Amino acid sequence: MDIKKVKNPLNKLMQDRRSIRKYDPSVKISKEEMSNIIQDAMTAPSGFNLQPWRFVVVDSDEGKELIKPYMTFNQIQHETSSAIIVVFIDNNSIEKIDDILAAEVKYKLRDEETKEKLSSRIKTYRADYSPERLLLSQMLDCGLICMQLMLSAKAYGYDTNPIGAFDRENFANAIGMDKDRYFPALVISIGKAAEEGNDTTRFSVNEVTQWK
Ligand SMILES: Cc1cc2nc3c(=O)[nH]c(=O)nc-3n(C[C@H](O)[C@H](O)[C@H](O)COP(=O)(O)O)c2cc1C
Repeated sequence: MDIKKVKNPLNKLMQDRRSIRKYDPSVKISKEEMSNIIQDAMTAPSGFNLQPWRFVVVDSDEGKELIKPYMTFNQIQHETSSAIIVVFIDNNSIEKIDDILAAEVKYKLRDEETKEKLSSRIKTYRADYSPERLLLSQMLDCGLICMQLMLSAKAYGYDTNPIGAFDRENFANAIGMDKDRYFPALVISIGKAAEEGNDTTRFSVNEVTQWK
């Protein structure tokens, strides 16, 4: 099947994003701009809208020093990036369900009665999750926010690298997060590119898609 290429703002952004591993170390991203990048990314969907992601933006020299030993072979990103964003899963994300639903009542998206019913239904449903199922489902949520975060950063003129090769066992404690509650899903370096990304290839749709 021949596919005719379409151009739209999103596919331009997606094509322009590349993993960048070396950044201009003189570029800092302000707290305000970083907050905008993250807030925009948080339009991502998540199971029950629980938004289980928690971010730690490591942008100070002291903070970077704490995580350096746990960045394995990803030292250039660590040294040159404006910040390292650590995306954690909150294993207790269910605790916020009533706050989330209360906000929906406040903004008149839902009434009090359906809020109460939904809250109890979600809590009952989630109570049956095994730790493995919880991890799988929240990793999926975090994958979605991470992708949006990288595209959001690109739209603000910054580059990123998703980093999975880090010491997951010790990362939470290194930056003062309770490791029993917070699991580091992914680390993302962010900054202004100081080199081009590698050219990469992708499968064609035909190679990876079945039609039934
Ligand atoms: C979950 C995940 C983990 C990754 N871990 C690393 C990593 O530890 N170090 C690194 O340099 N790149 C890492 N990458 C980046 C991939 O190598 C890169 O996305 C892939 O080669 C495609 O290149 P592109 O991002 O430029 O399109 C990771 C990507 C993903 C999605």
